Amino acid sequence: MALPIEAAGGEQGVGALNIARMDDYWLGGRHHREVDRDFADRVAITAPYVPYLVRAQRKLLRRMVRYLMDQGVRQFLDLGSGLPTAGHVHEIAQDKDPAARVVYVDRDSSIVDDCHQLLAGNDNAALLDTDIREPGTVLDVLRARCLLDLSEPVAVLAIAILQHIPDSDDPAGMITAYLDATCPGSYLALTHYGPDEHLMTGITMFSQMKFGRPPDVTFRDRTSVALFFSGLELVEPGIVPIVDWRPDPTDDPGINPERHPIFAGVGRKP
Ligand SMILES: C[S@@+](CC[C@H](N)C(=O)[O-])C[C@H]1O[C@@H](n2cnc3c(N)ncnc32)[C@H](O)[C@@H]1O
Repeated sequence: MALPIEAAGGEQGVGALNIARMDDYWLGGRHHREVDRDFADRVAITAPYVPYLVRAQRKLLRRMVRYLMDQGVRQFLDLGSGLPTAGHVHEIAQDKDPAARVVYVDRDSSIVDDCHQLLAGNDNAALLDTDIREPGTVLDVLRARCLLDLSEPVAVLAIAILQHIPDSDDPAGMITAYLDATCPGSYLALTHYGPDEHLMTGITMFSQMKFGRPPDVTFRDRTSVALFFSGLELVEPGIVPIVDWRPDPTDDPGINPERHPIFAGVGRKP
């Protein structure tokens, strides 16, 4: 099902507003502007647990990247990365192994300058200002610039991005195209908004506040999310609410973790 969400993604934004900077604000980063903070505060009023979900996904990203590093993966392709700030993939991976390579892909050209600042001097991290719905283009650049070695395992990350790709753009086919280019032992790690009644109500309320043309968000249930893992071996515990995916012993899952409306999963290419 597709619902409009009143928030901005790249060129669909209202003025300079964009999701990456709103996320940065909620994550305690420093790369946001007044328009982002104002809008983020409005979202927090209409859909109060969206900032919480953004933070919970960042914690999950940390757990996933550490898990993948433990499996020996040293290369990451982060699709729809947003700003690589506030504990993003290269910080987590290179903390364990400075030689770990990370390529971020985001079509939001307004974050490019901030990204270059954030990645300055880091020879093992790069940003591609490209639409992820064009895997051929992304893969050609990876090969031409030797950014990743596709003969070695790569973790393809799709965190909080696939709900921005409608079925008409064939997101499952897009993911398959990326994985087909990788070798056995590569991984897919993703999160995806599920059809949560309260989230949808909050988003509907928000879209009634009339802040320009909203982009679409496609909510997918667990069965639809499972299709992204076709042909892969699902890692335990399977496709579960984000707080239930391999929590750290000190993590507090909160009350009724099964109600957290975002699914998480990791699959390995056999
Ligand atoms: C919710 S943010 C993602 C956050 C990030 N993955 C994280 O874990 O914090 C969604 C991002 O996807 C980007 N995006 C949306 N559609 C895209 C597309 N077709 N190609 C590339 N980037 C896209 C937006 O510009 C935005 O920065």
